[in-house]
Amino acid sequence: MELGLIGYPVQGSLSPWIHHQFLDQLNMTGSYELYEIAPDQFEEQISDFKRKNLNGFNVTIPYKQRIIPYLDALSDSARAIGAVNTVVCHNGKWTGYNTDGFGLTAALEERFDDLFYKDKHALILGAGGASRGIYYSLLQAGFNTVDISNRTYEKAVELTGLNNSDTITSPMTFDEAEQKINHYDLIVQTTSVGMTPNEKAQVIDLEKIKKGAVVSDIVYKPFWTQLLKQAYQKRARVHHGHEMLLYQAKLAFEHFTGQSVDAKGILGDFEKMIK
Ligand code: ATR
Repeated sequence: MELGLIGYPVQGSLSPWIHHQFLDQLNMTGSYELYEIAPDQFEEQISDFKRKNLNGFNVTIPYKQRIIPYLDALSDSARAIGAVNTVVCHNGKWTGYNTDGFGLTAALEERFDDLFYKDKHALILGAGGASRGIYYSLLQAGFNTVDISNRTYEKAVELTGLNNSDTITSPMTFDEAEQKINHYDLIVQTTSVGMTPNEKAQVIDLEKIKKGAVVSDIVYKPFWTQLLKQAYQKRARVHHGHEMLLYQAKLAFEHFTGQSVDAKGILGDFEKMIK
């Protein structure tokens, strides 16, 4: 199974480690290589890349949208999200998927399955690329409410405008989200705020959060973001960012191979590696 990752930059990516674990689980031979492509060479390099005949590859920043014109087919969810992080290559045909948001919901479901019963309300902080996939997957998971709060309010308006399900969804400012915070069972932080080296930064205050609510931060460096520390103090349940990374890889690998792999069993080793 010949796999890889394209992006810029890709050095230091944790994906090779994860995919090698999955290959080992299935006793499959193969490799997962990093392909760094400079933005001004994307068009020419992607044709060379096609000749490598990989079985599949992941796509990271800044190419999750730019890869789309090169695909032969696109899953419905990747089309709705407007971004691709996984490409399966079969007989020279490329099919695009997006496993980022579904990775998060799969990880949440494994840890906090009570969140997926009826009458649950979610809030997403941020309205960028990561938020988009997460929004789509929470709508699909059947949450009653999925609100979006963003520094630039217009972007939250734009994203909530894409909803065509029965889920209630409203855009809001960070101030409004703080006021309403005890309404939510799940809060997903999707901005880069709090990431190393700005570890003291926190996007909103959780003072009024409901006890037992789940706070998920997609930032995984540091392991304990300021937001998660406050959530823990307030007796909310915390969900660290590396789990989304691991589970999006699990779903990608399952698209590549058509076989199931176990992410839970390698979570402990993965955690040690990123800490
Ligand atoms: P990604 O693909 O990682 O989501 P992105 O598309 O650039 O990256 O989106 C970044 C998100 O982080 C946006 O929601 C952005 O808010 P704006 O839409 O207002 O720009 C948010 N963000 C980045 N830096 C921020 C900061 N210092 N305070 C609040 N929000 C911030």
